[in-house]
Amino acid sequence: MGLTVAEKLIETHLVSGSLKRGEPIAIKIDQTLTQDATGTMAYLEFEAIGIPRVKTELSVSYVDHNLLQTDFRNADDHRFLQSIAAKYGLWFSRPGNGICHQVHLERFARPGKTLLGSDSHTPTAGGCAMLAIGAGGLDVAMAMAGKPFHLIMPRIIGVHLTGKLPPWVSARDVALWMLRKLTVKGGLGKIIEYFGEGLSSLSVPDRATIANLGTEMGATTSVFPSDKITLAWLKAQGRDEEWQELLADPEAKYDEIIELDLSSLEPLAACPSSPDNVKPVTELEGLPVAQVIVGSCANSSLRDLLVVAKALKGKKVHPSVSFEINPGSLQVLENLDVLGALQDLIHAGARIHQSGCLGCIGMGQAPATGTISLRTFTRNFPGRSGTKNDQVYLVSPEVAVAAALTGEFTDPRKLGAYPEIGLPERFIINDALLLPPLPEEQAAKVEIIRGPNIVPLPQFEPMPEELRCQVLLKVGDNITTDHIMPAGAKILPLRSNLPAISEYVFSNIDPEFAKKALALKEQGRWIAVVGGENYGQGSSREHAALAPRYLGVRAKLAKSFARIHKANLINFGILPVTFADPDDYEKISQGDELIFKKVRQVLSEGRDRLEIEILGKGTIYGKIDLTERDRQIILAGSLLNLAKEG
Ligand code: F3S
Repeated sequence: MGLTVAEKLIETHLVSGSLKRGEPIAIKIDQTLTQDATGTMAYLEFEAIGIPRVKTELSVSYVDHNLLQTDFRNADDHRFLQSIAAKYGLWFSRPGNGICHQVHLERFARPGKTLLGSDSHTPTAGGCAMLAIGAGGLDVAMAMAGKPFHLIMPRIIGVHLTGKLPPWVSARDVALWMLRKLTVKGGLGKIIEYFGEGLSSLSVPDRATIANLGTEMGATTSVFPSDKITLAWLKAQGRDEEWQELLADPEAKYDEIIELDLSSLEPLAACPSSPDNVKPVTELEGLPVAQVIVGSCANSSLRDLLVVAKALKGKKVHPSVSFEINPGSLQVLENLDVLGALQDLIHAGARIHQSGCLGCIGMGQAPATGTISLRTFTRNFPGRSGTKNDQVYLVSPEVAVAAALTGEFTDPRKLGAYPEIGLPERFIINDALLLPPLPEEQAAKVEIIRGPNIVPLPQFEPMPEELRCQVLLKVGDNITTDHIMPAGAKILPLRSNLPAISEYVFSNIDPEFAKKALALKEQGRWIAVVGGENYGQGSSREHAALAPRYLGVRAKLAKSFARIHKANLINFGILPVTFADPDDYEKISQGDELIFKKVRQVLSEGRDRLEIEILGKGTIYGKIDLTERDRQIILAGSLLNLAKEG
């Protein structure tokens, strides 16, 4: 039987299991990446495992999320990360070199390989025919230690692309169309694979934009084949010898197929405050816009910024708009400069920021109160921009530049002829901010630099037989990891200091949560959180599991969980339970006492039903959907405990 690209990638890396959908599998990981916000913790965990050097083919530590040095803490973290990379044999991408996914696509993505990254948008490299998956930092630490990555074999959706994108419509609109169709949870447990003749008009950075935004659908990853277009990209990066062809077999079978005629697409926008709240731009025309930002790992490639520069050439940014550019990488910035496009941007009145994530994770550029901000970013969850009640719309670079020129939502097709972009066949390559791994002998002599902000991990206790928890918080559907563990300029510098960052858990929902949790912890009591559907969607940040665990959260009871967050809960010994009867959600109130009965027995015996007493109210049942390995981790109290045991 023929295989899809995703199946070929998985089959060539299978350590255990088979291609049978829904079964546990383990795959070998060739490459890893971390970024600074998740990386400091991932390396503290890697150190705790006790391996002298990474065992992957290639591992990269990027600094891109927080480039602000408002005090010593961030600079300390950057030096810690640099010394860790030198000590353990990693590449180090220095602050200013760019966003991990853009730089990885340029310098390291390789068709046919696997990549595990402690960032939810790691699937971006699927645009270059990699099996690239986002995971928690501890999973990445284990992969660096040479351990396989465990997951449930996903179903594979084939997206059959025909036609060609019309002028002023781009890869972003493909992703927005998919988001409207699948919603933020339609990709759960699935890999999205793109195929068909429509691929011939999509460059690797275009494909990377689409793969990147598959994350917002909850997909395990998205993949594209490796074809002549992939070869052209690798040639442009001076890496053509890394190319290999990787195509789906003609008789490959997908679990379901979505048909998409690219010629039928129009400019789209995701409206506040969810990436799947998608409308045609024509319905939004005339809305006044105060801020426009082009950047993020979804849309800040050279192509994206060239479109913007060409549309702006000889014109001026509208006086009511703050127009901001976050180039995806130093390479993008330098090539823009060489091609003269940087001057067009500057001359038109754009504000040029350094290459990195910045505003995307609330590190600056928060929009003014009550105004509309148009961004080419990945997410518009409420408050992620740093402004309460923000109104963030997610759009293509084409829609962004149209609004920057007119000061209002504008259909870019009104701007006239679509500019010829003319990407260079060979990019200017500058790896000045990319430090290669040190040879073993030199690495052994490196001392890790630990500032006062680097706090070692605590030890977590094994799971008790009976788990008695107070419901300290009950929330609704689609709670994001941003809700659980907010980011932003005040919080991000605390990422390597667990006691300090834990004070902000759920702070945007209940500012007293951490205080109340610590009071219960002092009394030796455990905590449960109750949620609705798709609990923990969004960013891969493991702090959203680790920090609640530090505060004493031992169980989460929800209608359903997002994949990465569920894996992170398991890794830190928090029991994820779903309602056997979703209507039981209504029976629980904040403040109730829950008793999870015979937890150790249920986990060890592989049972999938758990009795839960709501004290004074009666009994309900929870569903346990965990692999044998997941159960072992929870019983041990954390993945680190289990790794040390055996
Ligand atoms: Fe950075 Fe935003 Fe992507 S924080 S990695 S640009 S989603």
